[in-house]
Order: sequence, then C-alpha cells, then structure tokens
Amino acid sequence: MAGSKIRVLVSGALLVAAALGAAGYAYYERLHRSIPVVYADPVERFKYGSIGTEGFGLPTYVFEILPELCPEKFPGGYEALGWNFEPGQTVPIGLSRRDMGVERIGFNCATCHVGTYRESPASPRHVVLGMPPQNLDFQKFLRRMGECVLDPRFTTEAVMAKIEARHPLSAIDKAVFRKIALPEVLGLTKYQVEKHEFFSRRPDFGPGRFDALNFIRLDLDLNPGKDDKVGVVDYPSVWNQKAREHHYAQWDASTPSVKERNRLAAMLAAGGDYHALDADELLWYDEWLLTLPVPAYPFPVDRALARKGEPVYQQRCADCHSATGRRVGVATPVEEVGTDRNRTDNLTIEVGAALNKVHTDRWAITQFRKTGGYATVLLDGIWARGPYLHNGSVPNLRELLTPPEKRSKVFYRAYDVYDPVNVGFVSSGPEAEAAGWKFDTAVKGNGNEGHVYGTDLSDADKLALIEFLKLQDGSAVKP
Ligand code: HEC
Ligand code: HEC
Repeated sequence: MAGSKIRVLVSGALLVAAALGAAGYAYYERLHRSIPVVYADPVERFKYGSIGTEGFGLPTYVFEILPELCPEKFPGGYEALGWNFEPGQTVPIGLSRRDMGVERIGFNCATCHVGTYRESPASPRHVVLGMPPQNLDFQKFLRRMGECVLDPRFTTEAVMAKIEARHPLSAIDKAVFRKIALPEVLGLTKYQVEKHEFFSRRPDFGPGRFDALNFIRLDLDLNPGKDDKVGVVDYPSVWNQKAREHHYAQWDASTPSVKERNRLAAMLAAGGDYHALDADELLWYDEWLLTLPVPAYPFPVDRALARKGEPVYQQRCADCHSATGRRVGVATPVEEVGTDRNRTDNLTIEVGAALNKVHTDRWAITQFRKTGGYATVLLDGIWARGPYLHNGSVPNLRELLTPPEKRSKVFYRAYDVYDPVNVGFVSSGPEAEAAGWKFDTAVKGNGNEGHVYGTDLSDADKLALIEFLKLQDGSAVKP
C-alpha cells in the first residue's frame, strides 16, 4: 500500500519534471530564436525584408495596438504619419519582421527610401521604390511611440487584453510576453527616449526629412544633446546607383564609396547597434540599388517644348548635373552654391574621423571626410524628388528657377498630390494646408537661399527647361 503510494508519487513527480523540462526548453528555445521573415520577390524584399534591425524593435503585436491604446497620439493611425499599408500585409512598407521569441519589427532601407504620389486627391497612391518618402514623419512616429509606451495606460494587463482580443495566444506566448517581451519594451523605450532627448534642442524635422547627422553623432558618442547643431536633410532618391558609382555621395559629397555610404545608411536604420546588421543581406541591397530603375514622368510631356529646353540645360546645368559634366558627383563649396550651410558645416572633421573608426568583422568605414560643400547630383527622376535641395526648402522646380528672394517663405509638405505645372508636390492651398506640415524657411537649417543657376532665364526658356527636366529618366535623356 505504502509502496504503491510512493510509486504513484514518484512517477507523478517525474511527469511534472518532464513537463516542466519540455516547457522550460520551449521557453528557452523561444528566447534564442532569430528567424527573419524572408521574401523571394526582390520588390517585396526591398519593401519588407530584414537587414537585422529588429533587436531594437517593438513586438509586432504591440506595434499594432498602440494607436488603440493612445488614440489621441495617433489620430488617423500610422497612415497619418506617412506609413503605407498594402493589402494583405501586417506591417507598412519599410518595416521588417523577425521571430525573436515574439515577432518583432525593424526598420529597413524602404523606411526612408520608398515614396508615393497621387494624380489627384481622389486617385490611389502610387508607390515608387527608391523615391524619397515625402509623407513620412519619422521623428513624430518615434516620439509618439515613446510617449505611448511610457504612458500610464501601457500596463501589462491592458496591453495583453488588447493583444489577446486580436490574436489567440498559447500559454508560452503569454508567459513570454508578460515576463520578457513587455518589460523589455519598457526598458528599450526608456533608453531610446533618453537618446532622443536631443530632439528637444532643435526645430522639428517635419515629414520627409531626417537629421541623419545628429543620429550619426549619437551612434558615435558625440553627444548631440550638448549643443543645438542642425543636420536635417531631405531624403535623397536611391535608384540608378550604377550611374553614381564614381561619384561622391551623401548630400555633402562626404564619401567616394558606394558601399560605405550604404553601410552608414544601414547604421541609421539600426538605432545604434550596427553590429547586429545582416552583412550578407546588405550586400544584396548594394547590388540591387545599382540598377533600380528611375521612374518615368507619369504625366504628358510636350516633347517639342522639351527639345527647346535641352540646349538651355546644356548651357546652364549640364556641367554640374549631367553624367558627362566636368563637375558632377563632387562637392561644390557652400560659398559658391550659396544654400543653407548647416548640414555641411556639421559634418565636422571630428565626425568624419569618428565615422572612419566604425567597423565590424565584415565591413568598415574609412573614407568619410569633411567637404564644406554640397554634392552636384544627377537629376534622374528629379520630378519625384521634390521638395528640392538638400534640406527640401524649395517646393518645386519652377521655384528653384525663381530668384531666392521671391521663393515661398512658407509652404506645406507631406501632401503627395502631384503638381505637374510647377513640377513638385502641391504645396499651398487649403488641401495641402489641411494634410501637410508647415515648412518655414526662417527656421534654422531650413534656409531656401542660393542655387541661383537659371533664375535669370527668360520665362520661355524656364518653361522649356522644366519640360526637359521631366524627361530625366537616367537612360536616354533625349526628348
Ligand atoms: C532612417 C532613415 C534611413 C534609412 C533607414 C536608410 N536611409 Fe539611406 N539615407 C537617409 C538619409 C537622410 C540620407 C542622406 C544623408 C545625408 O547626406 O545627409 C541617405 C542617403 C542614402 C544614400 C545616398 C544617396 C545619395 O545620392 O547621396 C544611399 C545610396 C542610401 N541612403 C541607401 C540606403 C540603404 C541601402 C539603406 C538600407 C541599408 C538605407 N539607405 C537606409 C535615410 C535613411
Ligand atoms: C556650379 C554647379 C551647378 C550648376 C551650374 C547647377 N547646379 Fe543644380 N545643384 C548644384 C548643387 C551643388 C546642388 C546641391 C545644393 C544643395 O542641396 O544645397 C544642386 C541641386 C540641384 C537640384 C536639387 C536636387 C534635389 O535632389 O533636390 C536641382 C533640381 C538642380 N540643382 C537643378 C539645376 C538646374 C536646372 C540647373 C541649371 C539651370 C542647375 N541645377 C545648375 C550645383 C549646380
């Protein structure tokens, strides 16, 4: 009797131990997973693929519920901050996913290098790969996420209730969320919000722009929080990199190396932990961007007029902007081009030297330098790259060809309806005002002065030149 009781007890204990062992192992295995969602199709891979940045990312399920948890911080949801959701996708273009015990999101190159336009307010958005995302207010997105996660409403119970209302969770899922993932979200968010303290000492970036320079200073421990230097830039286009292989890149022409420039870009996505980047995957981006096509101008073009614009372009612009130009792909001193100095002044010798120490066991940065100028860029796909200049301070091509004192001092960004008359996005009027963000050229870093080339042309020549510029598609530029 006593013997069989003991046997029952022993076998019961063994069962419990075995069950705990299995659960323990399953738990352990979950926390050591790192399995990215991969895409075979190259377009999907660019839009949603992982470059290894999810270590700093939110769990996908937490990302999903934040606008519900803090509705006043996300009026209009993530779309209103410029993120684009495609049918059938759980995350917007520009976010990757990786199973790290729970699935987490990360930024990729498409976060900052996929844009949209519409023909009219009623027409659907066209997604263009490699185009600057005029609508994305990345800074506001980072701020709102930080505020919501650190809000008193963000409790384990409230978050779990919202997640479980959407997704059935297993016992292990629940345990991983409660014990590991959610505490980690709080810790990481506090850390990020502290790092982003430098935002408060500078004007807001606004949509379609990013202070890459100060993020880099942050990564290099050059404490951007101790001063108020501004390095805010418009997102550049990244198509047709083959044509730029021998050009100096970045807005200030600070590196001659395509690869180093792409690694610096990836650092921006990684939120500081560039050692986590997937070095093999980055090689794919290097290669793929070489031949990413330039988008053709999507509206009718008056070809006869464009033909008249070609000699004007050859005479006034080609030297600095054509593939065969003598001065293309190098820095023009800021004193000569006359545009806002802040970005180029703030890539200092100190920042260049610190950048040139960045390395992992797979790649290194060695060739950054201070230039004191801005790059003479190819104008391929220029129709899709507005607002113009490194700081996005001039709304359209017509204004770029207008003397600086007559350019708009205030206009609205982030409205992606196209303006084929002035060539750029609609940047004034009630609709642009309602949907857009007020860009004030009087604010530090936003100056719209300089680049006076062609501003003295006759109206007829300007019209013809603008028509010609619509046809800059990186291939046969002949109208
Ligand atoms: C958080 C936003 C962000 C992410 C993510 C990002 N970039 Fe960029 N990228 C920028 C900004 C801003 C610049 C311009 C920096 C400057 O010169 O001040 C830039 C510049 C570039 C340029 C140089 C363009 C030129 O003509 O000089 C290339 C090429 C590029 N990025 C590729 C990539 C690739 C490849 C990735 C992914 C591995 C990536 N970027 C991820 C914001 C980003
Ligand atoms: C002396 C060299 C030079 C000449 C000549 C020149 N540019 Fe530029 N251009 C530049 C530089 C440098 C920049 C970058 C300035 C900046 O971003 O601050 C630039 C920028 C631009 C941009 C903005 C690119 C973007 O992605 O936002 C456009 C458009 C442009 N130029 C068109 C023209 C046209 C049209 C002409 C002829 C009427 C012309 N440029 C003549 C040097 C030149």
